[in-house]
Amino acid sequence: MYNSKIVGLGKFLPENIVTNQDLAKKIDTSEEWIVERTGIEERRHIVKGDGNTTASMGAEAAKIAIERAKISANEIDLILFATLSPDYYMPGSGVFVQNILNIPTCPAMDIRNACSGFVYAIATADQFIKTGMYKNILVIGSETQSGAIDMTTRGRDIAVIFGDGAGAAVVTKSESSGSGILSSHLYSEGEHVDELVMVAPNTNKWVTEIVSKNDPEDSSYYPYMNGKMVFKNAVSRFEEVINKGLDHNSLEPENISLLIPHQANLRISQFVQRKFKLRDDQVYNNIMRYGNTTAASIPIALTEAWEEGKVNKGDLIVLAAFGAGFSWGSTVIRWE
Ligand code: COA
Repeated sequence: MYNSKIVGLGKFLPENIVTNQDLAKKIDTSEEWIVERTGIEERRHIVKGDGNTTASMGAEAAKIAIERAKISANEIDLILFATLSPDYYMPGSGVFVQNILNIPTCPAMDIRNACSGFVYAIATADQFIKTGMYKNILVIGSETQSGAIDMTTRGRDIAVIFGDGAGAAVVTKSESSGSGILSSHLYSEGEHVDELVMVAPNTNKWVTEIVSKNDPEDSSYYPYMNGKMVFKNAVSRFEEVINKGLDHNSLEPENISLLIPHQANLRISQFVQRKFKLRDDQVYNNIMRYGNTTAASIPIALTEAWEEGKVNKGDLIVLAAFGAGFSWGSTVIRWE
């Protein structure tokens, strides 16, 4: 069995900044409410016609990751694309990236695990490398939330939280043992599928039905979130799954160099930080600037932390995510 490591990281954020004040002009909310409950100050939204899509943003992030990995696009053996907002119903967004970056024939697979998508994708990449099947795997998390959000007071709990953006990593075979990706722990609990969900269009309610009825009361094609339930489950599952990763590697919370939690809500990250008694410099948060970018949040944060010199050789990096499904997971990395 081989080990794997992350050798290149990249991110892409659309230029258009949407502040809390901008949102307060459209919906009944306020800067104070948003900052107090979520920690978010601004987020990015693509603008119709600016050329950005989930795949194009993923490709921009991937280009940087591939360059920093010092490989060429020709050397990518597998593309894993984590998203809940693919460009099209079919095909998946991975093949769009393959086309944009001129990556020669190789498998491209979309991973649909919402906020946990990137952690699921990293675990998948790690397994393919462990078995020796592939050497260089491009892992992308990219989202365009803005197009599917109810930008009225009805949708305000969701509208203030989510943002657009992309992050990418190149995962490759490591020559050393005892470092690189040390473990992944993944879980889902389907009994909570209705608590964080976007119902339509679906197999019983196709687009044609939605369009023909044109019912202004129908919010089924917008995301729904039971905020309190999500919050309660998130804090306990984050704690549990980080402990799983640490225990598996006989490590303690004080060994963590940097915890990069999925940027769901600053209050959730702060809760987790307190639980593990971590210092501020042991937890990376950028939700203030980008909101919750679901599958893109961890690769954006990891890239930003690396760019700021906060991810170095020998560091113990812990990634942890929780989201719709519910599904959650953690990855423990000894950075090479
Ligand atoms: N601006 C102003 N008021 C808002 C609002 C907004 N954007 N969104 C909701 N409210 C209102 C509600 O309508 C409610 O009003 P009411 O008391 O008159 O009925 C009030 O604020 C409290 O709503 P509630 O849903 O009970 O608030 P909360 O304290 O649970 O906070 C969240 C809401 C969404 C911030 C919080 O539940 C949360 O962070 N949940 C986790 C979300 C998350 O992390 N999601 C991503 C998972 S990957």
